[in-house]
Amino acid sequence: MSLTGKVAIVTGGSRGIGRAYAEALADAGAAVMIVDLLEAEGAATVEAIRAKGQQAAFRVVDVSNLQATEAMAKATADEFGGIDILVNNAAIFASLRGGPFSEISVERWDRTMAVNVRGPWLCIRAVVPYMRQRGGGAIVNQTSISAFGMPGMLDYTASKAAVIGMTKSAASELGRDNIRVNAIAPGGTATEALSEIMGGDLSVSEQRARTTQLIAEQIRPEDITGTLLHLVGPGAKFITGQTIVVDGGKYFLG
Ligand SMILES: NC(=O)c1ccc[n+]([C@@H]2O[C@H](COP(=O)([O-])OP(=O)(O)OC[C@H]3O[C@@H](n4cnc5c(N)ncnc54)[C@H](O)[C@@H]3O)[C@@H](O)[C@H]2O)c1
Repeated sequence: MSLTGKVAIVTGGSRGIGRAYAEALADAGAAVMIVDLLEAEGAATVEAIRAKGQQAAFRVVDVSNLQATEAMAKATADEFGGIDILVNNAAIFASLRGGPFSEISVERWDRTMAVNVRGPWLCIRAVVPYMRQRGGGAIVNQTSISAFGMPGMLDYTASKAAVIGMTKSAASELGRDNIRVNAIAPGGTATEALSEIMGGDLSVSEQRARTTQLIAEQIRPEDITGTLLHLVGPGAKFITGQTIVVDGGKYFLG
């Protein structure tokens, strides 16, 4: 599948799953604007993509900020000529610690919601006028299997459940503009963030994958990119409003 001539924005693309998404889109031929708060990692990702002769740029953007997201869309269109694809991947995740919901501070709740829920909405708002100019587009929102319920991190799970609702509502409003909106819900995926949450030890996650997934292996970022490429490509022309779970069959085993 070729995305040659397409322009994509990947939020939170400096590292982890977002970086894998950005690299996969560039490998498929898209020009990629990576936005994130992490500048050094973002620059390194752009360098790795450009080293392969592909097109990428980086911009510092706080996705929870209205003006910053509008500037992001304009800068992308100025740099690459338009916008066809938005991947709403940025989220507060690594800094969150598990624990009873009663111990989550109101400040943490508000910031998690601002980035994980307001962020994707603002990015959709900002890019849709540019997608309309191109006659359509594809938006993929990153949710998580934790959206379906798990103990601890109630603010995070609520934010990721909100993303599923947003995906369906945005799909209903944007279908007539030929803009498709879908979501990906990965299971535990080996990233720096997951490692930070696990106190620097990914072996707990690896063990969990072996015992709780039908496909009993640790998921890595590059294992999810095929789903993204399908959802943004022509093969998914009639797929919209869906959440695709990529968890190795975890929910069959509990
Ligand atoms: N790793 C997993 O196990 C897993 C599982 C399911 C879903 N997810 C989701 O996948 C996505 C990526 O996760 P990851 O494991 O790569 O974690 P990560 O923390 O490395 O990725 C999140 C990225 O978003 C950026 N970001 C945070 N706040 C931002 C803001 N306000 N504006 C712009 N960028 C911001 C971070 O700097 C980071 O680069 C997240 O949405 C996460 O919730 C992860």
